[in-house]
Amino acid sequence: MKKASVFIDTSLITGQTDDRLFSSFIEHLGRAVYGGIYEPDHPDADGQGFRQDVLALVRELGVESVRYPGGNFLSGYDWKDGIGPRDQRPRRLDLAWHSIEPNLVGIDEFYDWTVKAGTKIMGAVNMGNGTPKDAGELLEYCNFPGGTAWSDLRRKNGHEKPYGIKTWCIGNEMDGKWQICHLEADDYGKKARETAKIMKWIDSSVELVVCGSASSDLPSYPSWDRTVLEYTYDNIDYLSLHHYYENHGNDDDFLSSFVDMDTFIKRVASTIDYVKTVKRAKKTVNLSFDEWNIWYQSQDKDHDWLEAPAILEDHYSLLDALVFAGLGMTLVNNADRVKIACLAQLVNVIAPIFTQNGGKVIRQSIYYPFKELSTHARGTVLHPVVRSETIETCYGDAPLLHTAAVVSADGRELHLFLLNISRTDSQQVSLNLSSIGSSTLTSWMQLSGPDLHAVNTFEHPDAVVPRMLPVDAIGAEHGIYTIETAPLSWNSLTFRL
Ligand code: AHR
Repeated sequence: MKKASVFIDTSLITGQTDDRLFSSFIEHLGRAVYGGIYEPDHPDADGQGFRQDVLALVRELGVESVRYPGGNFLSGYDWKDGIGPRDQRPRRLDLAWHSIEPNLVGIDEFYDWTVKAGTKIMGAVNMGNGTPKDAGELLEYCNFPGGTAWSDLRRKNGHEKPYGIKTWCIGNEMDGKWQICHLEADDYGKKARETAKIMKWIDSSVELVVCGSASSDLPSYPSWDRTVLEYTYDNIDYLSLHHYYENHGNDDDFLSSFVDMDTFIKRVASTIDYVKTVKRAKKTVNLSFDEWNIWYQSQDKDHDWLEAPAILEDHYSLLDALVFAGLGMTLVNNADRVKIACLAQLVNVIAPIFTQNGGKVIRQSIYYPFKELSTHARGTVLHPVVRSETIETCYGDAPLLHTAAVVSADGRELHLFLLNISRTDSQQVSLNLSSIGSSTLTSWMQLSGPDLHAVNTFEHPDAVVPRMLPVDAIGAEHGIYTIETAPLSWNSLTFRL
């Protein structure tokens, strides 16, 4: 048995969570839209063709906003193809994913879907083959009340009231050579700045996200970020980060992915602060981690000009869910700088929700940690003082116990998240809440199990589900609780304060 200690004081505060930290992403890609959220022939489809079984799971997940419509797809997308009478909309080649886009769902339908799903749109404008003018027209269509050509077209198309989309991405991964009309940093910096000016003139309430480097593995990282910010710092609000993790065969390395994510966040924040210093700026640009997840990218296969092909359909195991939980905790621990984070993606494509065309829907293993964090990790993020043994990994030393602590907005509950990444040992955790005053452990949810590679399937949808542990017999002595976390377990504990 390993030993660890965690000391928590409510005056050791990291920051407040922004609700957009619990966001997700739907791209016109694979079966995310067609066969995912929209399937008019499905027995459970509503009058607009949206699958109600999927809607129910999205609502249950507690997704604050959904980035839309891409992704790589964005850089070749003309949003005007997706409005007006459906029978007049063009079928187009989607060059990003080598697929056919039928344009049956566009911004108007997606807005209706978000209302039904209890979420909001995080918009995105095309900086690949799109222009600053197109971006301005989309914003005018969505957010301008009326009395102009584009806003009146929205009203004519059935939406009298503007959508009020607050957060917008200016392009996607524009430093990636795979991007349609990829740009060099200077070119993107100028284009993004001019687009931002147009967008803020049209609606001064919007918040804008400029593309950071698509990956810390690219040689242009982090100079891309610096250059882009030198052009745009005064005009934008957030810099984007993307990162996906994959198990390359060493479970310890994979389990400590959260260490790498933390380093990445801090390095990008430092890059922003360097530009802030150069510019003598008062304003702080924050981070939008608008694509994060586990993605078995090396297993993706080629396909040819299909409509809604079954691509990027990863099946997540218990091990993936543990790694995923660690990443989610790291986002919470960086809530002072990471204001927006999008689980990429939401349905079918590297997603927590998985459907059968014409059939069932299931929750993948990663569904549960996202739901738990989205439900309990909102509020004041604390900085716990942790002592834990470490293991050597490709990311450096990783603590065997990864911790996050959040006090709920009403101050009545403390939520503590503990990830034990030891493959062999339980950890006895001495949890010191003595500085808080009286507290009671009211619930303990644990995700663990005998088969690390178990996955939820249509036949066995509950192979990986969290369980509640009994807490009645667990009390504190002088404010110190002693609890035991199982090897390879993710734990979410709630204390009434
Ligand atoms: O989420 C899948 C893809 O990953 C997105 O389209 C792109 O932005 C990223 O490379």
